[in-house]
Amino acid sequence: MNKFVGYRCSLCGEQYSPTAVTYICPKDGGNLDVVLDYDSLKNKYKPEDILSRSDPSLWRFLPLLPVQEPPGEATPLHAAGGTPVFILPRLAKKLGLQNLWLKDESRNPTGSFKDRASAIVVTRAQEMGAEIVVTASTGNAGAALAGMSAAVGQKAIIFAPKSAPQAKVAQLLVFGAKVILIDGTYDDAFDLTVKACNEFGWYCRNTGYNPFTAEGKKTAAFEIWQWWQDAHEKWHVEFGEDMDHPPLTVFVSVGDGNIISGIHKGFKDLYQLGWLPRIPRIIGVQAEGSAAISNAFHADTETITPVSATTIADSISVDLPRDGVRAVRAVKETGGTYVNVSDEEILKAIAELGTVGAFAEPAGAAAYAGLVKAITLGVVGSEDPILVLNTGSGLKDVRAAMQAVQSAPIIEPTLEAVKRLL
Ligand SMILES: Cc1ncc(COP(=O)(O)O)c(C=O)c1O
Ligand SMILES: [Zn+2]
Repeated sequence: MNKFVGYRCSLCGEQYSPTAVTYICPKDGGNLDVVLDYDSLKNKYKPEDILSRSDPSLWRFLPLLPVQEPPGEATPLHAAGGTPVFILPRLAKKLGLQNLWLKDESRNPTGSFKDRASAIVVTRAQEMGAEIVVTASTGNAGAALAGMSAAVGQKAIIFAPKSAPQAKVAQLLVFGAKVILIDGTYDDAFDLTVKACNEFGWYCRNTGYNPFTAEGKKTAAFEIWQWWQDAHEKWHVEFGEDMDHPPLTVFVSVGDGNIISGIHKGFKDLYQLGWLPRIPRIIGVQAEGSAAISNAFHADTETITPVSATTIADSISVDLPRDGVRAVRAVKETGGTYVNVSDEEILKAIAELGTVGAFAEPAGAAAYAGLVKAITLGVVGSEDPILVLNTGSGLKDVRAAMQAVQSAPIIEPTLEAVKRLL
């Protein structure tokens, strides 16, 4: 069954066949939504057919993805997704919430949410016979593309700002990608990759440009859907499938806006299939110093005005978000909102998450900082069931982690010194 039937432009609504376009709408540059054959999918599958598939990774949801089986077997590419959800009763109590969970995307093969997108794009690249896959990246998308490519022997080139955290650059190099560091911003790297791909015929993975990234990211929504059916029974929580209960509220940090758009797409796919009665409320979190999408949402416009981004959360530091319109809609259409958090609040969130055994990089912790902010703003109440996404591992940016905590004392190796300290 050919489930991938084409694309629809998110701006003008124009439909394209799978072979007519590759990246964005040729008319207006709008992001393209992948369109699946929902009627055939609905006829062929019941939710249980998908949910009972034994694959623990995102490939459990292969029937709902616009690609065929990935090449090879049992590689890191086959292990993307399938991340755990932790229940956080101590933090819930502290925040005055009844139910709080963390979906920990740092458990992905290269340590961030971006593996979901790169697993799908590399699979697509191999289907197309692309010789070289390229991405611009603040670090994680590149590490993910480099890792997923290495897993199946695909050549990759990564353009990243020279200011990217060292651990991320190390990942790129160790995975054997060709790494080009740009004396400029992520936005500069983005524009350069698009030009280079046009010039050299490379396949471009860029976030908010290649429509397949959102298809990978939507698998997090599928996993949330599955988790929630179990959680329902396990913790007797009502997730608002009828209007008597508040809906599940999902917090996600936002830079280019592709993760939030991808998650929204996943919920919309399920809704369209008739398998999800009510879409969860999505709340986007941006850094105060990089809040172009939040600004647009609060100004009630889909016109994204670039900012000059500065934040400790390098992964969400973006001047001109490339998936801004869909990111505005993701919260607008689900009854959510955008909240902004300061670098100080992000650092505090790293330390708070650490107290329950979760280690987040600044952009990952930003989602939790956003929850704290949303409570103070009255955007969420105690009865709202909350799921926060940690999108990246704290090991990605150890320098920021050290800023979030007090340094450890150094003592002489004697018992007296220990006693003095205690
Ligand atoms: C750890 C982490 N969190 C959040 C984001 C934000 O994703 P997006 O740029 O799609 O909004 C990124 C993107 O690089 C990321 O790496
Ligand atoms: Zn268009």
